[in-house]
This record gives sequence, structure tokens and C-alpha cells, in this order.
Amino acid sequence: MTADALVIFGITGDLARKMTFRALYRLETAGLLHCPIIGVALDDWSQDHLVAALRAAVEAGGAAVEAAAFERLAGRLSYLRGDFTDPATYRSLAGRLEGAERPLFYLEIPPSLFAPVVEALAAANLTAGATVMLEKPFGHDLMSARALNARLHRVLTEDQILRIDHFLGKQPVLDIQFLRFANALLEPVWNRDHVAAVQITLAEDFGVEDRGAFYDPVGALRDVVQNHLLQVLALIAMETPVSPGSDALWDRRMDVFRAMADVDPAHCLRGQYRGYLDVPGVKPGSVTETYVELELAVDNWRWSGVPFFIRAGKALAARATEVRVVFKRPPRLAFLDEPEHPAPNELVLRIDPDPGLRIGMLSKQASGQSAKIVHLGLSFAAELGKPPEPYERLLHDALTGDRSLFTRQDVVEETWRVIQPLVEHPPAPVPYEPGSWGPGPGRTSWQLPWLSSPHDRSAEHGDQ
Ligand code: BG6
Repeated sequence: MTADALVIFGITGDLARKMTFRALYRLETAGLLHCPIIGVALDDWSQDHLVAALRAAVEAGGAAVEAAAFERLAGRLSYLRGDFTDPATYRSLAGRLEGAERPLFYLEIPPSLFAPVVEALAAANLTAGATVMLEKPFGHDLMSARALNARLHRVLTEDQILRIDHFLGKQPVLDIQFLRFANALLEPVWNRDHVAAVQITLAEDFGVEDRGAFYDPVGALRDVVQNHLLQVLALIAMETPVSPGSDALWDRRMDVFRAMADVDPAHCLRGQYRGYLDVPGVKPGSVTETYVELELAVDNWRWSGVPFFIRAGKALAARATEVRVVFKRPPRLAFLDEPEHPAPNELVLRIDPDPGLRIGMLSKQASGQSAKIVHLGLSFAAELGKPPEPYERLLHDALTGDRSLFTRQDVVEETWRVIQPLVEHPPAPVPYEPGSWGPGPGRTSWQLPWLSSPHDRSAEHGDQ
């Protein structure tokens, strides 16, 4: 069911400036927008101010602005000034929405306002036929996620709720099930008989910057692990979906989370970069983590005994998001110069930046009898073209009623259940230098991420 109006709560905010305007512009240039768009926020903005913000956001994206598409988009945008807690705002909105039967409400606002805004929409009789799309974070622990779900379900059915996790809109993340299940080379070795460990990394080379007030009550675990990285883990670990459609896929992911024990805080490391306490909006003496490392286990026939390591941090030495599947070491090979130490094969799926795939193979050096790792690498964009951006894809799916990339209630609650002990008993954060690789060493040696271009054959420090 295609939406016949889009209402964006929080249109004057940071996310709109960084993501939403650009995603809308790309959809407009592709001819995929067909409805009016109303932005709602408290700021005293005029229509001109709104269009200027749209232009600035599109220009900041670096693309040349196509005049016709820009004018079309500006023409469908309007602004409604209003307090989210004031019923008058919703009365005005109802007036603007006259005639719309399937509005999409997009809430890019502080999470504490999700339930009040949805309740106010319902009180103004605006929810029949509507869909509500919510930004993250969805709750701050298991109990609050359950409570939020319960409150939303008092006025909405589950199929009216779209919970965003923008990682699910990333092309390489979508590709995981294709790579795994459509390649007979990979599927037979994708299990505990052949895999020694899985390492999932989200390293960022920037700090919290101007997001202190948002980030300080949240921290790395809730910001990117409970949602983005656990979703990636589930795609790496799940069984094959047995039918088309999103529920088959969510059922398989849910199986993975159900097979995971609660995380043991003794197997976790938390860190905070030096200088974090000076970020505006951060509380004095805050013990919020800007880095977290944890070991998880999926206790089923495919994965029992294989550690899944997740690491996420801000202000690290480089930006890299990847999944690294480390295979078992070969046995002693008598014909090698160093028979005892053949390195394991590794498969790296790079999610950001420049998504690609690389497999490290041991090969004979030009002379002598020693083995060296060489890489088979590919860049998805070079081979397959540039995919849509995650927000562009998710907004389009939401507008056209495709729910497959939006997280299900049971899945959100199960991911909180897995990390709940760490939420309740966080170890003290260890300080680390900005620009370093974090506070390590953690429980295992962390392979530094794959940083070079896919066709750069030279081995890197992290890939030896
Ligand atoms: C967001 C977090 O959800 O994901 C940010 O709030 C983080 O803190 C970002 O930087 C990472 O996503 P991406 O797509 O920018 O790598």
C-alpha cells in the first residue's frame, strides 16, 4: 500500500540535515516520490527556510543539484510549526492531511517522545490506515523496549509500525544472505567444523562531536551493538530462509538470537577516549563507553564453540566496518620452511567504506618454501554499480509498504535480552587515546581491519 502523505516529525533536526533531505532528493530525481511531504517541528521556520535547508543538505552531499527535481521536491514540501505535546499541533496536522487515507508518519525525534506522539496522533484520529516509522534507539534496555512496544500496540497494530535500523538498508549487509547461500563454495564451510572465530568490527575515526547530549545516555553498546551489529551477526549465523517474504528471514534471525546466551560482562571490555568528558552535552565524570568489545556465543549445531567477537568504537585510528570470518588453521605442513605456523584463511566482508569482499589465501613465495598470504578482492560498486543509500532505500520501502527491512518487535526484545547483563553490570571504562585502536588488548587479538582498496595486493599489518 503506497502512502499518500509523508509527515516528518523533527524535520529541523540533525538527522534530517544529514540524511533525510538527501534521501528524499535522490528519490525525487529517480521519479519515486508521489505524495506531499509535511515537516513538523517546534522551530520557527518559514517555507523559505525549509527549502534553504533542503538545498544546503543536498549541496553538502556533493552532487550537482538538478533544478527540475529540486523544484518538484520543494513544491511538495511544507512546514508545520508545532509543539509535539500540544493537541493543537495534531488538529492543524489533521487539517493539512484532509483527504489522505494512508499517511506515513516518520518520527525522527528523541525516543522519549515516540509514545506521546503516537498517542496524540491516535487521539486526533490520524492513525487509521497510517504507518508510523520510528528512528532508533528503540528502548534503552529490555524492560523499556517492552514497555514502548506495549504502549505503541495500544493504538497501533504491529504491521503499522516500522522500526528503522539503517544497517539493514546497506547493500553489503543485504548481500550477506546471497553470498552465503547462493555460493556452493562458501556454504559447506560456514560452520564450526571450519570456522575458528567471527569478528565483527565497527571502527570510526571520529568522536562524538556535536552529539554529546544524545550519546552520553546511550553509549556504544546501545548506539550500534544492540541494533546494527547484532543484526549483522544474525545474518552471518542464520540458517537459510525457507520461503520468500520478510517473515521467513526474520524467523531465521530470531533463531540465532534465541540460541545466544546472555552476554557475560566478564567477557566484555569497555573504553572511553580521552577528551570525551570535554564534549558538550556529556555529563561531568560520565562513565559512558565510546568503545565496547564483547564475546558472544551462538549455541547451536552450526556454531557451538565458535566465538563471535564484536567491537565498536569512536575516535579510533580509521573508519572501517567489516565482518571477518577466520577459518581454522591448517595442520603442520612438513614441506614449509616454517611447518608449524601456516596462517588461517580469512574472508572479510567490508561494509564501509567502499564495500567489498576479500579472501586471504596462502600461496608459495617466489623463492624458497615459505607461504605468504595473498588476497582475492572485489569492490561491489566496481562490479555491480552504485547501490541506493540506506535511508533512500528505507524511505522508499516505507512509502511503498514493504516491511522487510524493518525490525520486528520480538527481534528487538530478544537482542536487548542478550546484552541486558552488560547494560546492568557494565565494567568500568578503560581510557584510550583518540586515534589509537582502542583500550585493548581484549580477550583475543583483534585483527586490524582491511583498510586498503580491494585491488591493492599488498598485505596489511592486520592481515598477516
Ligand atoms: C548510527 C549511530 O546509528 O550509526 C552513530 O548513532 C554511528 O553513532 C552510525 O556513527 C554508524 O553508521 P554508518 O552508516 O554511518 O557507518
